[in-house]
Amino acid sequence: MKKDLQINSNKKDFPPQNWFWWPLLPLYPYGSRKTYFKELVANQIWGFEQLQGLYYVAVPVRLTVVKTPGGLMLINPLPPTDELLKILRSLEQQHGAVDSIILPTASGLEHKISMPAMARAFPKATLWVCPGQWSFPFQLPLSWIGLPKSRTKVLFDDGLPNSDFCEWISLGPLDIGLGRFQEVSCFHKPSGALIVTDALVGIESDPPELFDFDPTPLLFHARDSGNEPLKDTPELRKKGWARLVLFASFLKPQKLSIPSLLETFGNSFKPGLRTLKTHFGIYPFKWHKDWESSTKGLIGQNQPLLQVAPVLERLVFPRAKKELLKWLDNLINLKGMKTLISAHYSAPIVFDAQTCEDLRKKINFSKWAPSNGNWTFLGSLDKNLLKKGVVPRNPIPLIKD
Ligand SMILES: [Fe+2]
Repeated sequence: MKKDLQINSNKKDFPPQNWFWWPLLPLYPYGSRKTYFKELVANQIWGFEQLQGLYYVAVPVRLTVVKTPGGLMLINPLPPTDELLKILRSLEQQHGAVDSIILPTASGLEHKISMPAMARAFPKATLWVCPGQWSFPFQLPLSWIGLPKSRTKVLFDDGLPNSDFCEWISLGPLDIGLGRFQEVSCFHKPSGALIVTDALVGIESDPPELFDFDPTPLLFHARDSGNEPLKDTPELRKKGWARLVLFASFLKPQKLSIPSLLETFGNSFKPGLRTLKTHFGIYPFKWHKDWESSTKGLIGQNQPLLQVAPVLERLVFPRAKKELLKWLDNLINLKGMKTLISAHYSAPIVFDAQTCEDLRKKINFSKWAPSNGNWTFLGSLDKNLLKKGVVPRNPIPLIKD
């Protein structure tokens, strides 16, 4: 008892952004997760964003909260820090208690990792998960990874949440060799919003507002060498954001070289840069002079550019375009679809039947999953996996549940 009291009193000393479970998936910004909150559809849908990434290559991940007749439905959980919970509790006071938490993806680790903690934060909520959940290194029952059997349900197998005003559409399941890919999208009929996880994104040139709290990742990557100090201007934030998007989309973009160790360390440990924040001046990247030209077709200049995320196109759907087109056909038929809210990048963005039809045409008639330019690294990764028999040849078989 005494020990519990001590733990509780110590907890109060932690900042409200503290995330204790970060070692489970040790991504930047590790144990401190700032939350950005925004109303996405007036009085109906809200977004919470936190950063997640590697080596300052961090992009926001979004939790979407939908008002239901019974309270609130959470889609794609995020680490429930005190800061995030405080905002959620105030939403509960206005609109009712959280009654369901949805994990709509079988593969997106960044979305799965905080489901148990979110479940504990809302002990009365029903938990819904995408079929085919897996755990690593051993396949464990859901109850062993923190999802109590008594209130956990599997989408489709055990019914669907709020099905009178939400339509649930599955993309996949596909056996991609390395595991199962499936995500379930939610079409919220009252607002016309389609809520997806990773399948579609809209990327714009302005950095997300979340970076206003700490623009360090943008400024770090806006430099051309480790001996340059971190300067903060709107232009440099945009430059850094464009490079982060290139990294996150293609892992190793075309217009990027890795300098020699001699060059990297020759530019490091300069006066004023001997801090952890600047990684002691170690910047092992060299962007080519014309690097900006490689953002064409990826980042929209005046509005978010709608697309299938390149990693998904090249590593998940390279030989399953048909499945993606089938899913888009289902979306085209949704009545009253107006906007797209995905778990990454800009939201909400315009997405009606016509936009969806245009995207379908573009995908159908343009070269799919290329292996040149920015796509070279992703293409070689896929070809190697194919050669080793890790990923299946055309067509990727559907898993039968
Ligand atoms: Fe994701």
